[in-house]
Amino acid sequence: MLLSGLNLSTLDNNKDRSIKRGAEVYIFHCQRCHMPDGLGGENLYPPLSGSDYLFNNINQSIKIVMMGSDKDIIVNGKTHDMDMEATYLTDKEIADVMNFILNSWENSYEGIITEENVEAFR
Ligand code: HEC
Repeated sequence: MLLSGLNLSTLDNNKDRSIKRGAEVYIFHCQRCHMPDGLGGENLYPPLSGSDYLFNNINQSIKIVMMGSDKDIIVNGKTHDMDMEATYLTDKEIADVMNFILNSWENSYEGIITEENVEAFR
């Protein structure tokens, strides 16, 4: 669906560039909790690498990155009740960091998250 009408090599280039920018966003805004290996921290911070939550709830994950989360969420069978604060990132930064986390460590995602996808949740 995301691929229709798009030139694949353009998509790859855009995606690669977005992932590279997303790596910077991750280092500054996410790594201290979710860790450089994306595995999070013990009982406090959920993993992003191999997270079933992330892949089953991509839209909800965009919202979490945008607005934070004070709900209990279950990641790989484990309940997390710590809060995540809103990040105050731009739509572009959120799209970039989503593309980074969806395609890093053991994660890989065929599609691409665009600024427009993120904007839809404002
Ligand atoms: C201060 C620590 C902290 C920071 C910084 C942080 N998170 Fe989180 N994150 C959490 C916690 C805690 C949860 C679980 C929230 C809950 O239980 O409601 C979470 C949940 C998530 C989830 C959904 C659950 C999962 O593991 O798949 C995603 C996706 C996510 N964070 C991505 C990010 C991204 C991307 C950034 C950087 C832009 C970021 N987080 C920054 C602490 C943090």
